Amino acid sequence: MIETENLTRKFGGLTAVENLTLRVEEGEVFGFLGPNAAGKTTTVRMLCCLISKTSGEARIGDYHVDREADCLAIRKMVGFLPENVGLYENLSAYRNLDFYGKLYEVPDEKRRENIERLLKLLGIWDRRNDNVGDFSKGTKQKIAIARALIHEPKVLFLDEPTANLDPEASKTVRDFVLELKKEKHTIFLNTHNLDEAEKLCDRIGILKTRLIAVGAPTELERSLYNRKTIVHLQAVTAQVTEAVKQFNAVKSVREVDNKLVLDMDHPERDNPELVRTIVAAGGDIQYVTELKSTLEDVYLKLIREAKTQ
Ligand SMILES: Nc1ncnc2c1ncn2[C@@H]1O[C@H](COP(=O)(O)OP(=O)(O)OP(=O)(O)O)[C@@H](O)[C@H]1O
Ligand SMILES: [Mg+2]
Repeated sequence: MIETENLTRKFGGLTAVENLTLRVEEGEVFGFLGPNAAGKTTTVRMLCCLISKTSGEARIGDYHVDREADCLAIRKMVGFLPENVGLYENLSAYRNLDFYGKLYEVPDEKRRENIERLLKLLGIWDRRNDNVGDFSKGTKQKIAIARALIHEPKVLFLDEPTANLDPEASKTVRDFVLELKKEKHTIFLNTHNLDEAEKLCDRIGILKTRLIAVGAPTELERSLYNRKTIVHLQAVTAQVTEAVKQFNAVKSVREVDNKLVLDMDHPERDNPELVRTIVAAGGDIQYVTELKSTLEDVYLKLIREAKTQ
């Protein structure tokens, strides 16, 4: 649904995005992570036809971002929540949405339906007649999200949708994104919130002018270390340690308090037999877990490495 090839954008002597090659499938929630000034917003603005590219290719569906006629189609097809919401402060929530709906030529009845549905979903229908200027940052953000969806776009670009929101408002927005995911929208999400990326996204790309890594959150988390299984025991005995060392699938064993940390290539395949082996050696297993690095560990490592290149 979204495809780029060597997409590059320069501002004078500064390269903001360099040779970005990326594919986001229809119905996928794709998270775009990266430090400040990494080029996330620049990428999204190119994809929404708001700024031109310097070189490379980018398409939304079959439409090319550098063809004027295609850009009209792209604007109808995509919804965009920008970093700065930019609403009409002296118009009510309802009239803001009505205005943008008209701009997108959404028919009257559909516009009414969509405004009501979106404001209800976001929990702000009661405030529809209040001036936007009187709203808190979080409520404005929700109205801007509703605005991005007023014309029922297939593809949604959200640039830091929960920045500056309190935990409860963030959750409303995240739940809303999950609802949109169920409806098979394609969602491109710029965020600094790693937890949010992990919860919402099918795949994540890490950008620092260039794309450093891309993969499902669990793939990225596992990329840092080999797979490790931790077996918590009532007590680690010599028999248990010996039996585990003899077990072929275990590449190395480390003892930490009453735990064994085991290096293995295929834990899903080999753990059942491992457990039987430990039990047969008289081990009392309390629980078996996987040692995983967090998305934060992976992100920080990749960004630091990218700095020294
Ligand atoms: N219109 C512009 N003119 C000149 N430089 C620009 C312009 N827009 C962006 N840049 C530069 O391009 C780089 C990438 O900016 P961009 O806003 O895409 O980063 P970002 O990843 O969205 O950062 P943040 O996390 O802070 O939102 C920055 O160095 C920025 O200063
Ligand atoms: Mg940005």
